[in-house]
Order: sequence, then C-alpha cells, then structure tokens
Amino acid sequence: MDSDSMAPGEVIYSEEDIAQRTAGLAREINAAIPDGNLHVIITQKGALYFGVDLIRALGRRVTIGFITASSYGDGMESSGEVQLRSEDTGEITARRVLIVEDIIDTGRTLQSVVNTIRSRKPASVHTVAFIDKPARREVAIDADFVGFSAEDVFLVGYGLDHAEAYRELPCIRSFEP
Ligand code: PRP
Repeated sequence: MDSDSMAPGEVIYSEEDIAQRTAGLAREINAAIPDGNLHVIITQKGALYFGVDLIRALGRRVTIGFITASSYGDGMESSGEVQLRSEDTGEITARRVLIVEDIIDTGRTLQSVVNTIRSRKPASVHTVAFIDKPARREVAIDADFVGFSAEDVFLVGYGLDHAEAYRELPCIRSFEP
C-alpha cells in the first residue's frame, strides 16, 4: 500500500518517553562498560536518530562508525534477506564495540550485523536496540540493552520508516492500514 494513502496513528512513545528511556539506557551502558573509549556503530538508516541521541546521553569518549542494513524495502514484512554495506564501520580489531539498532523484529538484521562485526576481531561486542518486538523473532538473538519491548504493531517515527517516509517524526507512532 502507498504510504501517502495511510497516516501514522496513535503515539506509542512520546518525545518525553524517548528522552527518558535514552537517558536510562545510557546509564545502563555506562555502568556495564564503565571505562575507556567505546566504538559506537550506528545501523543505518533506522538507528540514526537514536544513535546520535544515545551518544550525547552517554557523555563519554566515543568513536563512531556506520553499517547500512536493509531488508524491508517498501514493504511491511522483512524480505528475509539482509543486504549489508560495511565499508564505513571504522577500525574494529581489538576495539570495544557498541552496535546501535533502532528495532529488532525478526532478528535477522542484528544477527547479520553482529556476525560481520565479530569477524573483524573486536575486543568485545555489546548491542543496544531502542525497541524490541520479541513476538516477531525468527532467529535466536537478543540485544544486551533494550529501550522498550513493544507489541506486534508496525511503528514509524524517530528513524523508523514505512517506504522511507516518516523517519522525521519526533515521536514513535503506530502505522496500520
Ligand atoms: C529495519 C530496522 C532494523 C531492521 C529490523 O531496517 O531499522 O535494522 O529492519 O528488522 P529485523 O529484525 O526483521 O531484521 P530496514 O531494513 O527497514 O532498513 P532501514 O534501517 O534503512 O529502515
């Protein structure tokens, strides 16, 4: 269905919810990984907004890299095939890496990203996802840190898209035909 003929629905997570939970996640991450430099890898494009806000909230020295993953295209279901571009991750070998995801649905994207990063021999790998949809999981993977556990509802806003639309919404809303 064309996203122009549908409109985002109710607010699921407000701007205030997002800011408060991001601050809480930063505290959890800083407590679990207290010292030294972190290499933060933001999964594009969905995690761009959360990634930048999280880095600000962490308030510590970081270096930043990017990995681009895509499996949904313009649809509302995963194609099952994750396309990765990983030339902008930055140096990973012997680094402490934090992978930032916006959402875990089937788990295929996070699994592909983690496997790619691990193959480059980091000192450690942690994962954070702002939203988890455990009911949708198809592969056995969980993030080390999770912002919100969500119902099985398609979500847009704060980086999450439908056919590339609605990423710019400041809050997260449901999106149903
Ligand atoms: C979305 C989202 C996650 C992934 C989660 O990415 O940003 O990376 O799907 O779904 P999964 O757990 O079923 O793999 P998408 O492929 O839509 O690309 P985008 O980040 O550019 O929106």
